[in-house]
Amino acid sequence: MDAPMDDDRGTTGRPPADGADPRHLSRKTVLRAALAAGVALPAALMGVPALARTVGPDGGPLDLTPECDDGDDPTPPQMEGPYFKPNSPRRTSLVDAGTPGTRLTVTGYVFGLACQPLGNVLLDFWQADVNGVYDNTGFRFRGHQFTDAGGAFTLTTIVPGLYPGRTRHLHVKVQAPGRPVLTTQLYFPGEPRNNTDSLFDPRLLMVVRNVTGGREATFDFVLNVTQTGTTTRTSTTTSSPGGGTWAAGTSYAIGARVTYGGTGYSCLQAHLAQPGWEPPNVPALWRAE
Ligand SMILES: [Fe+2]
Repeated sequence: MDAPMDDDRGTTGRPPADGADPRHLSRKTVLRAALAAGVALPAALMGVPALARTVGPDGGPLDLTPECDDGDDPTPPQMEGPYFKPNSPRRTSLVDAGTPGTRLTVTGYVFGLACQPLGNVLLDFWQADVNGVYDNTGFRFRGHQFTDAGGAFTLTTIVPGLYPGRTRHLHVKVQAPGRPVLTTQLYFPGEPRNNTDSLFDPRLLMVVRNVTGGREATFDFVLNVTQTGTTTRTSTTTSSPGGGTWAAGTSYAIGARVTYGGTGYSCLQAHLAQPGWEPPNVPALWRAE
């Protein structure tokens, strides 16, 4: 597989974090459930822009999945120790029966801006092994696949090990046919290093749960692909009703309370607030009260 080098911006379409207020279930969450169940969707649902993580009275296009690049990608050909390698094998499983590590299954969908699933989207995953080491000579823990007609993907792998300077993460390139590549990373909730890794972005947190024999994770990508019924995205700024006590640059502790856009929120995870991490955008960090 030959991945273009330019990056795109996509959007995060994760369902609400565990414990999210059911009143905050988005149209997209409903869509996800319907897709999983094989339910035919009414045009009114398919054709209307939906918010991925928040309920807004005005609706609007989805927020772009944040780009995330730790400097080892794309790979300058003269640099040694590249972590991304093109031409990974096409496969949905990166493990065999003897692979050490905690089994991890990642499932999700790829959507366009109108919350419609995108088929035949390339997903190229790579990650460290259980010891935090990348295979730079072969293709262990590297593989690409394509979403099915319903926009779904499944990756079978292990929980990657840690290596110095980074929190736990998966790398992925996502590319809709004929579109630029989104290069990003997926993160695990509850990791101590999430609070100190400068690349960590809570909008890229997977929803992870422990199951017998390992963990199951979900994450939905939303690419900057215009679809019928999509309103034109005019700004990368997320909905920002503004007002309130929340402020970027502030360190918040667990339990801290802020207001934003007329709603009160309590902090779920200590963090240094960043632009774009407004409480409605990061349910992993803030819970509406
Ligand atoms: Fe990495």
